[in-house]
Amino acid sequence: MMINARSLPRPNAHDRYRPVYHFTPPSGWLNDPNGIVHHEGRWHVYYQHNPTQPTWGDIHWGHASSADLLTWRDEPLALAPSPTTADGQGCFSGSFAWVNGTPTLYYTGWQNGVQTQCRATSQDLMTWEKDANNPIIPHPPEHVRQDDFRDPYVFQHGKRWYMVIGASLHHDRGAALLYRSDNGQQWTYLHVLHTATRTDQGVMWECPNFFPLGDRWVLVVSVWPKLGARYFLGSFEDERFTAEREGVIDGDGGAFAHLTAVGPDGRLLQWAWIDEQRHRDLIVPGGWAGVLSVPRQLALVDGDLYVQPVSELTQLRDKLLCGGEVLIGPTEPTGFQGTHLDLQLTLEADIEHPVHLSLLCSPDRSEETILTFDPGARLLKLDRSRSSLDPRVNRDSQRVHLALRRGERLELRVLLDGSVLEVYAGGRACLTSRLYPSRTDSVLGRLTAERVTAGTFTVWTMGEDKGPPR
Ligand code: FRU
Repeated sequence: MMINARSLPRPNAHDRYRPVYHFTPPSGWLNDPNGIVHHEGRWHVYYQHNPTQPTWGDIHWGHASSADLLTWRDEPLALAPSPTTADGQGCFSGSFAWVNGTPTLYYTGWQNGVQTQCRATSQDLMTWEKDANNPIIPHPPEHVRQDDFRDPYVFQHGKRWYMVIGASLHHDRGAALLYRSDNGQQWTYLHVLHTATRTDQGVMWECPNFFPLGDRWVLVVSVWPKLGARYFLGSFEDERFTAEREGVIDGDGGAFAHLTAVGPDGRLLQWAWIDEQRHRDLIVPGGWAGVLSVPRQLALVDGDLYVQPVSELTQLRDKLLCGGEVLIGPTEPTGFQGTHLDLQLTLEADIEHPVHLSLLCSPDRSEETILTFDPGARLLKLDRSRSSLDPRVNRDSQRVHLALRRGERLELRVLLDGSVLEVYAGGRACLTSRLYPSRTDSVLGRLTAERVTAGTFTVWTMGEDKGPPR
């Protein structure tokens, strides 16, 4: 069945908060990235979508595709709730898998608060037929409530299929459950793959993503209450996962529901959902909500998970605003201007004093967002206390741990795109945020340091002369 339910006009292209090089829904609401696959030269990304309102509800699966990871084409909706069935109130998150050559979506059906696992198949990745036997997994195992049982992630390992489902044990401890199948249709519950052991690891785990990376396996889960995404890195042998390390992706919960897919060149790419952080009264007139992160590449470096934006993004660099070696000091800031930028900063090794990058700053500095690297505190901090004069905008600060090794230089990549900010620190830390300055002249930027520091600093505008984003 081809579903087309676009009843909202495409939001205003002049909306200053709408990103130009991040993916946003044509209109309405977006949350988690769902199945992702590369096929016949195109990336297909499905996502949680309310096509008729810029608010969460009536959850469909939207679909977009791209040949270059830079420009996206909206495709017909992939899944819509079918009244009176297991997904009558929503087609929740899940994943894509090739099952014996057939494109297959696994997702959670939601009906009267009950969550069950469902599937749909396709011949062309465009139109999807739901399985007549849905729900294919009607009940959770013991100790898991039926409203704590969602977001199936399916992968092939050896000759078998495995499914990892997000859950809560006894309604108070996040967990990922492991299932196995010989044919992708009938599933057997095996055991808990991994579970929270501390309160900051959450009471419920959503959107589990489990994949091999180098010689390790990585489990990424989104932690509820919304504390962001954590990863566990370890081994997977005899259907058992042993975590050896853990960490945080996107410090302080700026992004959620991370999902990976492998490209034809073997790169492991990841997308995540970046939520709105402004009051509903500000969202509704805009007609859209929710952004996907830029595609990121994951790697295992010195036994740790590294996250960087894909290299393709440099093709969107447009005008060079400043570039080259700089001496950064307290009194003579390096200034620039723009709202859609790609900034790259490299500092000399072993700096001891904080460096500040201000963005979306008004001339009188009543509005200003300040990103600080504080080497003493080993923190990358984002001060949003003055990022908007509008009280209906989230102005909480965010921080992520960043300890440089002796002799290591700070390398920051900062992607600003309207209201979206993504900061990557040499692959080792990542901070994602939203900024909504209220003044139209809040477009200035400056780089300062508390002691004179040498480095290189380059700023490009992004995609501004390239017409509409898709
Ligand atoms: C994560 C999540 C998932 C759920 C989906 C519903 O953001 O809460 O657990 O399947 O969103 O839209």
